[in-house]
Amino acid sequence: MDEPALQAVRARLADARKVCVLTGAGMSAESGIPTFRDALTGLWSRFDPMQLASEEGFRADPRLVWDWYAERRLGVRAAQPNAGHMALATFAARHPTRLTLVTQNVDDLHQRAGIVETIRLHGDILQDCWLNACPRGRHCEPGAAAPAQPPRCSECGNLVRPGVVWFGEMLPPAALDAAQHAARESEVMLVIGTSGAVWPAAGLAQLARRAGAYVVIVNPEPSEIDAQAHAVLRGSAATLVPALLDGL
Ligand code: OAD
Repeated sequence: MDEPALQAVRARLADARKVCVLTGAGMSAESGIPTFRDALTGLWSRFDPMQLASEEGFRADPRLVWDWYAERRLGVRAAQPNAGHMALATFAARHPTRLTLVTQNVDDLHQRAGIVETIRLHGDILQDCWLNACPRGRHCEPGAAAPAQPPRCSECGNLVRPGVVWFGEMLPPAALDAAQHAARESEVMLVIGTSGAVWPAAGLAQLARRAGAYVVIVNPEPSEIDAQAHAVLRGSAATLVPALLDGL
């Protein structure tokens, strides 16, 4: 660990009136939830992300996509927040007006660690929603569940899908607005465990920097947005986040 760099970032965090944190899949890696790319290993390695995480892929093979999400939902339910989630939650509880947490993660580990107000850019994997607006302009009702199949509306056949943002879909506009506002307002922007490959979330670091924030990246590997950062701390979220925040 680069101790002087760590202490320099701690000092920035201690002074900052507004801190915006952006988390990605690496935040939950040490809780046992595979990152998006790692989730496509093993049995799933022969599929491409567009097939498993897009509306087109779901329409083409609802059962396959439902199965993949069912496995990921089990993983999320079995996981526990790690020391990094807990350190963020403790800081948020101590300084309720200073921290805004923005996450790309579809798990609920920040919430279970105790952060109630989280801006969720990519939705919630544990939520169900309907694939289409009800064609009859009413509420769809799920019919009897068939094994390993997404539930369908008993009247119109509409399918249930997971409440996540898929490739090619818009982010929830209110969440994106709130995230951009928090990035612009922040004095320190802390980006934890994201590859920086997926937009528009990846643009938040640049937005913050242009508005004058000190940008810090925590990641054991290089990311696509390292060049946006004033400080890059190489290491894992569960180790570095407590080292940065504990006691502040
Ligand atoms: P990725 O899977 O693209 O990247 C995970 C990042 O976490 C990588 O940069 C790893 O180096 C880093 N990482 C791994 N272990 C870590 C650890 N213990 N501590 C800290 N960092 C670690 O995940 P995201 O950047 O979150 O979108 O991907 C963004 C989006 O791509 C996801 O939200 C998902 C996916 O498509 C949607 O579902 C729309």
